[in-house]
Amino acid sequence: MKVLVTGGAGFIGSHTCVQLMSAGHEVVIVDNFCNSKPETIGNIEKIVGRPVHLYRNDLRDLEAMRRVFAEHHIDAVIHFAGLKSVPESIQKPLAYYENNLGSTFVLCQAMLEADCKRIVFSSSATVYGNDNPVPFKEGMPTSAINPYGYTKVMIEQFLTDLSAADPAWSICLLRYFNPVGAHPSGLLGEDPNGIPNNLLPYVSQVAAGLRSEVIVYGNDYDTPDGTGIRDYVHVTDLARGHLAAVQYVLEHNGTEIINLGTGQGTSVMEIMEAYSHACGRALPYRIASRRPGDIAVCYADPEKARSILGWEAQKDVGQMCSDSWNFAKNRYEVAPSS
Ligand code: NAD
Ligand code: UFG
Repeated sequence: MKVLVTGGAGFIGSHTCVQLMSAGHEVVIVDNFCNSKPETIGNIEKIVGRPVHLYRNDLRDLEAMRRVFAEHHIDAVIHFAGLKSVPESIQKPLAYYENNLGSTFVLCQAMLEADCKRIVFSSSATVYGNDNPVPFKEGMPTSAINPYGYTKVMIEQFLTDLSAADPAWSICLLRYFNPVGAHPSGLLGEDPNGIPNNLLPYVSQVAAGLRSEVIVYGNDYDTPDGTGIRDYVHVTDLARGHLAAVQYVLEHNGTEIINLGTGQGTSVMEIMEAYSHACGRALPYRIASRRPGDIAVCYADPEKARSILGWEAQKDVGQMCSDSWNFAKNRYEVAPSS
């Protein structure tokens, strides 16, 4: 099959392209590289050993999207492209609503014109908001506490409305928990611009010597060690979930919402310990006050992914940290220790 991957140069998109191509599928990437680097395309090609069809375009450019669909018969779309920083979304709400909603509207318009109505969308556990009990299940009410989260809630609603209006649409809304890790080759991984906002990229930069210490946001949560608990999921497991989801939308119509998480919670201090083990030294850290908007505990009920997609996460936190460190050593050119 031929899959259009929007945001295919990004962290999750690049790993998914590798797996799609390794499974024999053709991939067409549309990315404007606003949060990724063109070198990633070369790295995907290096891992897979064949070329990618790349369009360096903004998704909000309808004429460019029409060209993509005119030049390729696309069987299904995986829609990763979007802006994803929570703090930035609070500072720049217009940019977030405009990019995330606008690009989805234009994409769907181009899909409709090309009669391609199968899409897998990158949603997020953030749509469970602050009031649901863990583990989070797909049927729980959704809400948001920041503009980024609202864009996910709104796009979920928009896509659900599309398929309600036209039953030919086939839509899978994947709610990711905390994607981390890197490709085992060390060629692909998470490489944010500026100061990392998320825990694992920040810890990687401390391990690589780029930053002096990890700042632990709060050790007074109602959790066993007082630090926040999340459901970390290896990006290659997540990529495998997309292969199953794309197969699912080819075979079923309607809208399906599916969590992609492990069902296991890990605290910040447990991550610190696992990462210290991976990089071979204790990492310096400092306890700071809670980060506004953070919840204490977030983890998935992964049962629906198991029953509907036959998908289950396989890699543990130790593997996530060692693959992250392997990528960070490459990326930041860390000299091997004597
Ligand atoms: P990423 O920033 O690495 O990748 C997104 C890609 O989309 C980038 O390559 C960027 O250049 C591209 N892009 C953004 N806007 C575009 C536009 N208008 N036109 C063309 N390209 C555009 O992010 P990621 O971590 O790979 O996340 C992928 C998706 O998953 C996002 O929608 C994100 O919100 C969602 N998600 C991510 C996480 C996470 O923690 N990484 C968690 C839950 C959900
Ligand atoms: N944390 C620290 N120090 C840091 C960064 C994070 O202690 O420097 C803590 C946070 O307080 C939290 C945990 O580490 O307890 C995880 O934080 P992240 O920022 O890595 O991840 P979040 O759970 O806050 O959010 C991520 C994505 C969101 C997405 C959400 C659910 O950033 O976009 O997972 O999928 F919505």
